Amino acid sequence: MADPIDVLEQEAVAALEAAGDPDALEAWRIEFLGSKGRLKAMMSTMRDLGPEERPVFGERMNRVKESLQAAFKQRSTASADAIPPMDVTEPGTTSDLGQRHVLTRTIDEVVDVFGRMGFSVEEGPEVEDEWHNFVALNIPEHHPAREPAENFFLGNGNMLRSQTSTVQIRVMEHAPPPLKIITCGRVYRPDTHDATHYSMFHQVEGLCIDRNITMIDLKTVLFQFARACFGPEAEVRMRPSFFPFTEPSAEVDMKMKIKGRWQWVELGGCGMVDPNVLEAVNIDPEEWSGYAFGLGIERIAMRRHGIADIRWLYENDERFLRQF
Ligand code: DAH
Repeated sequence: MADPIDVLEQEAVAALEAAGDPDALEAWRIEFLGSKGRLKAMMSTMRDLGPEERPVFGERMNRVKESLQAAFKQRSTASADAIPPMDVTEPGTTSDLGQRHVLTRTIDEVVDVFGRMGFSVEEGPEVEDEWHNFVALNIPEHHPAREPAENFFLGNGNMLRSQTSTVQIRVMEHAPPPLKIITCGRVYRPDTHDATHYSMFHQVEGLCIDRNITMIDLKTVLFQFARACFGPEAEVRMRPSFFPFTEPSAEVDMKMKIKGRWQWVELGGCGMVDPNVLEAVNIDPEEWSGYAFGLGIERIAMRRHGIADIRWLYENDERFLRQF
């Protein structure tokens, strides 16, 4: 008759061999090594033996138990290595979805509105030379706009551009008229930061050069923009002003409803491109004329969304940014 300990051990080894996944391994552990398992059950038969047989029996049982425990441990680690510890029925963790910054969205909307009026989008460098930032724009040597206190000069005649009007020059240098472009981008001025000033902000610049362009065309485009941006009752007002690169020049105000109240808000400047500017880029002012405008993107975004402090736009506080 076969030895019952040998039989149990052989069965256990064969069953362990057959246990193919973590559930089967656990079932095996319970069946053989568990507190109500088959090894325990056999151990309890020891009381039926005579006193001289007991130690031999106990020692054999212990050896079998230890060897099965070791075999189980080895099988478990091998199976843990083979099967990735992943439960596909777990709900999982979601990561937060980000969203575009309110200024980025405003720029996209501005581009969309002017795009529908036939303007194409151009870009220019933020590190500029004084020729594009001043000279070609008819801003002479001792003009206050060239003050070191008003600009970030970098040396070697370079600077951080103080206005996107630079892109007018870059476009006209490379493409012959007719032209109808806008550009949106950052500009830099060493302003002290407060609720309405920051040393970096964004502008949208427009330029249209063609034959027989008048200020009516300019006002029409600004008017359409105002209505698209601030609603069907928005208005545009042009106040006579001075910019070196336009003649005549005007400040642009738009009338919009803010918290239920109609208000005029100054958004930038505009005018008819000065003949000196056209000549600087070898465009004949007798044949071509045009208009230009520059509006503050932050002002547009702040008025549209009721943002009271420009600094909030750059603090990257999610509690603020998530509102839009
Ligand atoms: N560049 C001007 C500024 O930063 C804004 C401006 C005024 C742009 C008149 C223009 C313009 O194109 O015609 O204050």
